[in-house]
Amino acid sequence: MKILIATEKPFAPAAVKNITSELEGAGHEVLLLEKYTDKAQLLEAVKDVDAMIVRSDKITPDVLDAANQLKIIVRAGAGYDSIDTKYAKEKNVVVENTPGQNSNAVAELVFGMLVYAIRNFYNGKSGTELKGKKLGILAFGNVGRNVARIAKGFDMDVYAYDAFCPAEAIEAAGVHAVKTQNDLFKVSDVLSLHIPATPDTIKSINYEMVNQLPKKAILLNTARKEVINEEELLKLMAEREDLKFITDIKPDADEEFLKFTGRYFSTPKKMGAQTAEANLNAGVAAAKQINAFFETGDTTFQVNK
Ligand code: 3PG
Repeated sequence: MKILIATEKPFAPAAVKNITSELEGAGHEVLLLEKYTDKAQLLEAVKDVDAMIVRSDKITPDVLDAANQLKIIVRAGAGYDSIDTKYAKEKNVVVENTPGQNSNAVAELVFGMLVYAIRNFYNGKSGTELKGKKLGILAFGNVGRNVARIAKGFDMDVYAYDAFCPAEAIEAAGVHAVKTQNDLFKVSDVLSLHIPATPDTIKSINYEMVNQLPKKAILLNTARKEVINEEELLKLMAEREDLKFITDIKPDADEEFLKFTGRYFSTPKKMGAQTAEANLNAGVAAAKQINAFFETGDTTFQVNK
């Protein structure tokens, strides 16, 4: 089978090497399309491939239409909002993700960004400490759980809310489970977002929600930019000079947020899963899933059933 690795944001070279040998070891041919700048390159590359490994690459209907032989796409990562899963289903293309494989990398970045923000972006003036602060984790999935684990090392007081995870499972991880999302925002000195972008969550982090945060709170987004109502957050930040917003996904209104000097920071490009370890874990898991699919028909990680 022909397997295309299509990554606008490439994996670390060591990961590409291991993914390739995993697939070639199973008798497949591997094609590589990295750092493409034009959709036409992707449309051309998918033409006769049987499977694809992607990251946040946009797999829209035109890509699926161009890929006549395609049977499976594996998103090497957690979030699959960049793939038109419904249309893929119509075209009989299985879509899978690799849950948990890059979650530690994202969780570690949370703390890299938090220390930076709480120390006033290293401007030389006294900041504060994470120890003893209340950390709110919105969504207790793989990343949220890793954030909770690391937060305990910082001696933070950890709270979480997840609409789909029972409170008992949160408490079992030694984290305070709160009853509602509003309760989480009310209690959190630092609020870390780990929700996927779905019709229910898009723009859900709005004026009313964020305004419940206590004084001097930090809102941190390492999830998806779409979950933030940017217009409303801009309005709130103009009104509340105590609020900080830091994000690993550059908002559309980046220029406007930049006006809030000392209260806003965005990484230049989404960095959460950008570690050799995460690339290796997610990429090799994706290759193994493709091998299992062609060998035994395994679709354990299918997200468009
Ligand atoms: C994910 O959903 O797995 C993370 O957001 C990482 O995405 P990336 O592979 O595009 O960096």
